[in-house]
Amino acid sequence: MAKVVATVGVGTVGSSWATFYSSKGFKVKMYDAAENVLKLAPNSVQRNLEFMIERGLMPREEADAALQNIESCFELSEAVCDATFIQESAFESYEVKEKLFEGIEEACPRDTIIASSSSGLLMTNIQKNLKTPERCVICHPFNPPHLLPLVEIVPGEKTSTDTLRRAKEFFEGLGKVPVILKKEMVGHIANRLSAALWREAIHLVVEGVASVEDVDKAVWAGPGLRWAFMGPHLTYHLGGGKGGLKYFLEHLGPAFESYFEDLGSWTRIPEHAKPKLVEGVIEEVQGKSIDDLVKWRDAKLAEVLKAVLG
Ligand SMILES: NC(=O)c1ccc[n+]([C@@H]2O[C@H](COP(=O)([O-])OP(=O)(O)OC[C@H]3O[C@@H](n4cnc5c(N)ncnc54)[C@H](O)[C@@H]3O)[C@@H](O)[C@H]2O)c1
Repeated sequence: MAKVVATVGVGTVGSSWATFYSSKGFKVKMYDAAENVLKLAPNSVQRNLEFMIERGLMPREEADAALQNIESCFELSEAVCDATFIQESAFESYEVKEKLFEGIEEACPRDTIIASSSSGLLMTNIQKNLKTPERCVICHPFNPPHLLPLVEIVPGEKTSTDTLRRAKEFFEGLGKVPVILKKEMVGHIANRLSAALWREAIHLVVEGVASVEDVDKAVWAGPGLRWAFMGPHLTYHLGGGKGGLKYFLEHLGPAFESYFEDLGSWTRIPEHAKPKLVEGVIEEVQGKSIDDLVKWRDAKLAEVLKAVLG
C-alpha cells in the first residue's frame, strides 16, 4: 500500500505540494481549515498535472494514477493519523502554526516528521510548546513546489540532527534539491538573497538609473541565465579564468567593494518608489493579463527545468 503524506493547508503552496507528492506515488491526504479551499484543491492538483503532461514533464498514465492518490479530509486527525510525512502550508502566522502543530502532534504517529513550508518564521517559536519538538522542522519550498526542486531545511533550537538527516534523505529520494541550514535565520537563504537583489533593483529605479523593464532585462538576459544552474560563488570562480575565485577576489574584489559601498541600504521600501514600480511593471507587460503571464512563465520554467535537470 502507498505511503501517506499529509498536506495540511492546501492553498497556493499546499495544493502544489499535493501535486508533487501524488506524482511521486504517495497517497496524499489533504486538509484545510476552509472547506471551500479543500473542495477546490483536487481541481488545482488536476490543473497542475495537466500542465505537467502538456509540457512533457510527466506521462499521462502517471498523472492519472497521481490523481487517484489524493484524498480530501474534513478533519485534521483523519489527514495525519497514518502519515509518514506531514507538510504544513497554512497561513504564515505564529498563532496559526503553533496551534496547528499542537493538533498535528496529538493525532499523528510518534515518529512522523512534521514539516512547515514557512517562508520566514522560525521553527524555535513554532515548536516551543510541543511535546515532541525534535521532529519538527522547516522544509521551505520555492513556489511552485511541484516544479521547482529547492527545499530549504531549517532546524529550530529543539530540532534533532536525526530529523534533519531524515528530511534530507526523504527529499533527495524524491529528486528534490535539499539544503540544510546550520542555524535558523529569518528568510532562510534564498529569500534573503532575493531580497538583497530586489532592494538594489528598486534602488536603481528610484535613483533614475534605469526603467523597471531595463532593470528586469539586466537580470534575466545576463546573470539570470547563469543562475539557472550555478550560484554566485561558482559563477565568480569561473569569472576568475584559470586563477579561479582566488584570482577573482584579488583582481575584482576591490571593484565589488566599491559597489558594496554605493548600494542602496534602506530597510523600508520608500513610499515614493511604490507607484513608480507599479507603473514600470505595467509598461513592461504591455497589456498582457496576469493569467497569460503565468502561463508564459510556467511554460518557460518547464523548458528551463528540462534543460537544467534533464
Ligand atoms: N506563496 C508562496 O510563494 C510561498 C512559497 C514558499 C512557502 N510559502 C509558505 O507556505 C505557507 C502557505 O502559503 P500560501 O501562499 O500557500 O498561502 P495561502 O493563503 O494560499 O494558503 C494558506 C491556506 O492555509 C489554510 N489555513 C489557515 N489556517 C489553517 C489551519 N489552522 N489549518 C489548516 N489550514 C489552515 C487557509 O484556509 C489557506 O487555504 C506559508 O507558510 C508561506 O510562508 C509560500
